[in-house]
Amino acid sequence: MSTSTRGSFSSRIGFIAAAAGSAVGLGNIWKFPYEVGNYGGAAFLIIYVLCAFIICMPIMVAEIAMGRNAQLNPFGTYKKLGGKGWAWAGFFGILAGVMILSFYNVVAGWAFGYFLQISFGDLLAQGDYGAYFGRYVANVGDNMVFSLAFMVLTALIVVGGVQKGIERWTKILMPALISIILVLIIYGLTLDNAFKGIEFYLVPDFGKINMEVLYKALSQAFFSLSLGMGALITYGSYFSKKDNIVSSAALVTTADLSIAFLAGMLIFPLVFFQGIAPTEGPGLVFVALPGIFEAMGPILGRVVGGGFFLLLCFAALTSTISLLEVPVAFVTDQFKTGRKKTVWLLAVLIFLIGLPSMLSQGAVSWLTEFVSYGGQTRDFMTVVIDIFSDIALPLGGFLISIFVAYKWKIARFSDELEHGHPKFRGTWEEKFVTIMLSTLSPLIVGFIVLATILERFAGISLF
Ligand code: PFF
Repeated sequence: MSTSTRGSFSSRIGFIAAAAGSAVGLGNIWKFPYEVGNYGGAAFLIIYVLCAFIICMPIMVAEIAMGRNAQLNPFGTYKKLGGKGWAWAGFFGILAGVMILSFYNVVAGWAFGYFLQISFGDLLAQGDYGAYFGRYVANVGDNMVFSLAFMVLTALIVVGGVQKGIERWTKILMPALISIILVLIIYGLTLDNAFKGIEFYLVPDFGKINMEVLYKALSQAFFSLSLGMGALITYGSYFSKKDNIVSSAALVTTADLSIAFLAGMLIFPLVFFQGIAPTEGPGLVFVALPGIFEAMGPILGRVVGGGFFLLLCFAALTSTISLLEVPVAFVTDQFKTGRKKTVWLLAVLIFLIGLPSMLSQGAVSWLTEFVSYGGQTRDFMTVVIDIFSDIALPLGGFLISIFVAYKWKIARFSDELEHGHPKFRGTWEEKFVTIMLSTLSPLIVGFIVLATILERFAGISLF
């Protein structure tokens, strides 16, 4: 396949919908609330917002500009713009994406299972939803079927290509998701103790800020914005030269942050109403919500609860398609293979790579208690998240900043941004983006990642 026959988005709105669809996913609705819960509530939220707008948004602009300029996948992009020596940085991103999809698909499978069990099964009669979740994720049969189904769905859409697959579906699914979240927030705010939840979420206790909070907020911002591994290089390669990259990136960032913010507004009132600990961890959404749906009564509970988890699946789906598109673009660009065959091959492969993560949630004990570091025993999935998401994505962002500022060079980067934004040079946007990429982003991101690796894995604290 030559680069001229690669797909493209039909319009700027198509690109924004697809990039926002990639950004908005389990990261916003599943991961963000439990990290806010674990790492100090409102203090985490504030740092998270700062990271997203100040550090991550310029990196997002850089990724999209690189992809659009090179018209290739992340590996090909780095190679074309920076030479062979840099191609490994693109490859490293693609590998991170493959590993992220491997566990992400498992969690998406949980959401899919919850949708089916709430709508058509007896999930809402379980009472103790914490215990139910524990049993649920350790159940091999269900998880195998649901996560395989999810991967098949992802592959079917990706086979359809950029416009008819990715773009069309995100435009339908995103508005539906926002509507149901808003309805649930309004409902949650009428419950007892709702405002204790809001207080936890919105009134900061700055004493809670430490290195771990900084690091988690930064890596969560990267994960949530689909940044640091080349998903946006790939989507950027399908983006028209006529469109404005800077304003599109600002819109995608705002959309993503808004949905994460709303997810917190939805979850914390419900958590405090039910007396659940906000530090529940990865099960938080799966434990906090069913009790509320149960209280709505057998029919309404099924409709609203089923609807919520169905839409969570949709949000996850618009992210899994972007995750799968990255290695697909890599293989089809570099090895000129057919799209359809490549999609199915990679989907099967990544599903298999995800099996140890799936089995590490109680089903197989050595995977559940896989290793110990940082004073805690970690399951296999947590190790994959720590390495390929929490560390690899900020590291990828660090490499992108250094690459654009010192290898590709700001002048060429600005030339690319002038397409679709002819007055870009001389604006405050130019100053902000270039200062961030050439100095502050690499310094801050590099420091936080290094400090955290030292602290967590080697027990060396820089403070
Ligand atoms: N941004 C997605 C989420 O928040 O759920 C996850 C993700 C998608 C990460 C695509 C990375 C990526 F390339």
